[in-house]
Amino acid sequence: MLQLRDVRVVIDGHEIIRIDELDLAPGSRLGLVGESGSGKTMTAKAIAGLLPDESKVSGSVIFEGQDLLTLNDREMSKVRGKRIGFVFQDPARSLNPMMRIGKQVSEAIRIHSDLKGDAVTAKVIDLLHQVQLPEPETLLRRYPHQLSGGQQQRVMIAAAIAADPDLLIADEPTTALDVTVQEEILRLLISLSEERKMSLMFVSHDLGVIRFVCDRVAVIYGGNIVESGRIEDVVAHPMHRYTAALLAANPGMPKDDNFSAFIGKRLQTITGSVPAVGKFPSGCRFRNRCLSATDACSTMPSPITTGNDHRYLCWNPGDRGQS
Ligand SMILES: Nc1ncnc2c1ncn2[C@@H]1O[C@H](COP(=O)(O)OP(=O)(O)O)[C@@H](O)[C@H]1O
Ligand code: SF4
Ligand SMILES: [Mg+2]
Repeated sequence: MLQLRDVRVVIDGHEIIRIDELDLAPGSRLGLVGESGSGKTMTAKAIAGLLPDESKVSGSVIFEGQDLLTLNDREMSKVRGKRIGFVFQDPARSLNPMMRIGKQVSEAIRIHSDLKGDAVTAKVIDLLHQVQLPEPETLLRRYPHQLSGGQQQRVMIAAAIAADPDLLIADEPTTALDVTVQEEILRLLISLSEERKMSLMFVSHDLGVIRFVCDRVAVIYGGNIVESGRIEDVVAHPMHRYTAALLAANPGMPKDDNFSAFIGKRLQTITGSVPAVGKFPSGCRFRNRCLSATDACSTMPSPITTGNDHRYLCWNPGDRGQS
């Protein structure tokens, strides 16, 4: 349903994103994971057509057979919201503080449908029910500041699914929320994606959260997808050394374990920090932080694919963490 091929984003002469291949199957939930500054948001923005004006983009982003990178702004704004919904990290900044909740959700409905008057209000109430907000009839007259962070994020999700999109892209939607609220919102996203057969691209720096929500994962570092596959395969046998280091820092939570006991826990930190744009080494971008780097790593490894589409780019793969 969504295929990225040779997608490059260059800003001010610096290559921020270079993704040779990334796929999302219909109905599936793909996690995009990496430390802060790895290129997760830029990837989501490249798909959404929301990159900064100075960006140069090439390659293809094929969504349901259509290359989104060939669409103009007007065509793209029809895809955004209607066929692909978006939810971002900070609900307080995404909502208009001066506008009542009902109006904000009804705008999303009006833009993408022919509904009018009472039919719109009925749809708003139905959507607020679907995101499990209490007393929607009262809530729609409230302003954002009268809602908790978790309730605000539910409103954002209601607006994002208003036009019944086939794909929802959620960029760190729960990072700003405390852990119990986080778990409720994640469960809501899982049930909405299952009930509506809506694919989900879920962006997070936390592998535990990704394992809770997703069936597949793509690991991003320096704007490159360094490893991808079924979440259980990647967690059990990480092949790229960056994935292994991420797992050592956050082992990810088995699906049936206690959420709050696992989420956000850091066991180790990864050596060094993510370089600034333009400061990455040549070849494998993780080379200056990798304890297993060899001379070969100064050139970019070719992708290797094993069973279940487990794909990685590493000269010295291994699944026992950094050694
Ligand atoms: N508007 C911009 N102009 C130039 N560089 C940017 C811009 N926005 C983000 N970047 C850079 O792109 C890289 C990836 O950023 P981002 O996608 O936001 O990372 P993540 O979401 O994984 O934390 C970072 O090095 C960041 O500094
Ligand atoms: S072994 Fe080489 S290719 Fe693999 S992660 Fe380390 S630096 Fe990159
Ligand atoms: Mg981000």
